[in-house]
Amino acid sequence: MSSSEQPLRRVLVTGGAGYIGSHVIYALQETRRYKVISVDNHHNSTPKSLVRVAQLARDNLPADASEHDRDSAEIDAHQCDLTKPDEVRRVFEKYGKGGIWGVVHIAAYKAVGESTEIPLTYYENNVSATVYLLQIMAEFDCTRMVYSSSATVYGTPPVIPIPETTRLQAESPYGKTKVMCETILGDLCAAEPSRWRAISLRYFNPAGAHPSGRIGEDPLGRPGNLLPLLAHMAVGRVKDSTLKVFGNDYPTPDGTCVRDYLHVLDLAKGHLLSLDALEPGSKVFDNCPTEARYKAYNLGKGRGMSVLQIVDAMRKATGFDFKYEIIGRRRGDVPDLTADPALAEKELGFTAPADLETMCRDLWNWQTKNPNGYDGPDATSA
Ligand SMILES: NC(=O)c1ccc[n+]([C@@H]2O[C@H](COP(=O)([O-])OP(=O)(O)OC[C@H]3O[C@@H](n4cnc5c(N)ncnc54)[C@H](O)[C@@H]3O)[C@@H](O)[C@H]2O)c1
Repeated sequence: MSSSEQPLRRVLVTGGAGYIGSHVIYALQETRRYKVISVDNHHNSTPKSLVRVAQLARDNLPADASEHDRDSAEIDAHQCDLTKPDEVRRVFEKYGKGGIWGVVHIAAYKAVGESTEIPLTYYENNVSATVYLLQIMAEFDCTRMVYSSSATVYGTPPVIPIPETTRLQAESPYGKTKVMCETILGDLCAAEPSRWRAISLRYFNPAGAHPSGRIGEDPLGRPGNLLPLLAHMAVGRVKDSTLKVFGNDYPTPDGTCVRDYLHVLDLAKGHLLSLDALEPGSKVFDNCPTEARYKAYNLGKGRGMSVLQIVDAMRKATGFDFKYEIIGRRRGDVPDLTADPALAEKELGFTAPADLETMCRDLWNWQTKNPNGYDGPDATSA
């Protein structure tokens, strides 16, 4: 390590092998300031994503990379289930008290519909596991967390664009697990204000992939989200000839539902800014109403896109002639979820510059290079 280099800061990323986790790790490694420890049980991912992220980091190293730089490109990956505290404790034991600077807690189950069928599984995996993780962090004097929350915490919001001050009224068990974890973090930061600092990031609709096409979203089974579904249709993995559009009689410009899409790499950069905001000198907690150093921020573009606009953008990106039919509204769909991202911009310096065209282009690049995801026989090699 040269004298100008700070020691690498160890950050543990839960759910590191997943869609968002792999892009967050990419962003962390790109800075060459962090040593990433990943924890994932691969319930919804494969370790191959981590192999590829590390390769991207190695490829990004300058020709004269130091030992310290090279170390930053290697991930310390643990296959570990967060619902099993003994497994998690073993990871922390490896580094000892104070050995891990902070945690980016991304791992969770995330399917709204499924959460209504197996709520206990969701509460265990998303809430109990978070409590165990926080307890173990406390044992090891690791008291900084960036938490993956979601716009679903707002339920059907009364005001669009949605500011963070909106009451939290999640409608599904999944959404409620996010509200509960935010509440737990707020309570913990209030109980020990000189010890804990945490930031919840309420993601809107992450989309796209790293422009190399080496990492991307690889949903198991039929994609639940619109953009990956369109990509799977265009690549021939989903055989439906027609997209079902749920309702065109919403109070939106073209009548279809509106969502706020942001590029997954812009979202990932929001995590770097949040980690910086957990530093001792940070000002972001100065305006907290109490002593508790806890904040929640929306991460979105602040620009809504309708289902039909997305179909059109994907048609341009893929050249595939999507057919769609309008069917009735789907229960639980909210007409418009557009973020007010002003607070994150003002306090964290967050912006999400990538446009929809870029998101669709990067998604399609990933999908064509890996038509069957990480595990398909025709995926590009690690
Ligand atoms: N993708 C979205 O549209 C979106 C939107 C808002 C919020 N979020 C939140 O972002 C986070 C990541 O989402 P994603 O799209 O990357 O999902 P993902 O399923 O691709 O990633 C989640 C990762 O967590 C792992 N995991 C789950 N339970 C675990 C456990 N008990 N122990 C260890 N690892 C476990 C999975 O194997 C997976 O690799 C989730 O918390 C989700 O709720 C996602």
